[in-house]
Amino acid sequence: MAESKKIITLITGASSGIGLELAVQLAADPNNHVLLCSRSLEKGELALQEVQSRKLPGTVELLQLDVASQESIAAAAKTVEERHGRIDALVNNAGTGSAALPPEEAFPQTYLTNAVGPYFVTEAFLPLLKTSITTPRILNVSSGAGSMTRRLANTHAQGFWGLPYSASKAALNLISVTQAVVYGDMGIKVFAFSPGFVESNLGPHNKVANGAQTTEEGTRPMVGILKGERDEEHGGFLAKGGQYPW
Ligand SMILES: NC(=O)c1ccc[n+]([C@@H]2O[C@H](COP(=O)([O-])OP(=O)(O)OC[C@H]3O[C@@H](n4cnc5c(N)ncnc54)[C@H](OP(=O)(O)O)[C@@H]3O)[C@@H](O)[C@H]2O)c1
Repeated sequence: MAESKKIITLITGASSGIGLELAVQLAADPNNHVLLCSRSLEKGELALQEVQSRKLPGTVELLQLDVASQESIAAAAKTVEERHGRIDALVNNAGTGSAALPPEEAFPQTYLTNAVGPYFVTEAFLPLLKTSITTPRILNVSSGAGSMTRRLANTHAQGFWGLPYSASKAALNLISVTQAVVYGDMGIKVFAFSPGFVESNLGPHNKVANGAQTTEEGTRPMVGILKGERDEEHGGFLAKGGQYPW
């Protein structure tokens, strides 16, 4: 298929875990072109090779993007504008756990990467979403740890994540609903999504042996959301087969 007719999806933090797996799952469809973003070009090259080694029919392109850097965000948006003139979906997936850091370092780091970064990435790419050839979608990868209702009920202990990570995801949730309200009028569908406990590099506990879903399983629902299968849930806090309370 000609690239001009493909659905272009930009994924931040796609050098490992859920982001990399999403690039693989999207590339299984020949209609898709994936902008695989990595803050490290070295890690990004390895991730690109990993996707390309599968000989999938979709296409993938590497883009340097550090969501904690305004310069990097602006440069990435300029590159995509020049190369493609649009994107059709933005997946704010990059995230950090910072569980091992003391709170004075973990709070600023998690807020910058998990909430502030997605806000500014979305602002930078908004003009390119507006020129989408399909229904534009924003998928903010949040966490059940950011649910205030679950925290109040004390059914979801912060466990090894701690307050900085959970609070940064609660902040992302408010950014997500704000985007849903403001961009919904422009026809953009916005979702927060919690993948649940998934095998990845997020922390040392993220292993199948500890009860985590495989990366393939945990990522799969995102493909359906990006295809528009859950558009009626615009503005929601989605999870596999249902929704989380805010
Ligand atoms: N796995 C779970 O159980 C789980 C549960 C709920 C939510 N989530 C969320 O899922 C998302 C993906 O995480 P994951 O589980 O796949 O963990 P992961 O394997 O550690 O992936 C996180 C990705 O984010 C990237 N990243 C970190 N800081 C960045 C920055 N400043 N700019 C750009 N990229 C950056 C990392 O790149 P580097 O390799 O360069 O560090 C890595 O590629 C995160 O938002 C996470 O909070 C995960």
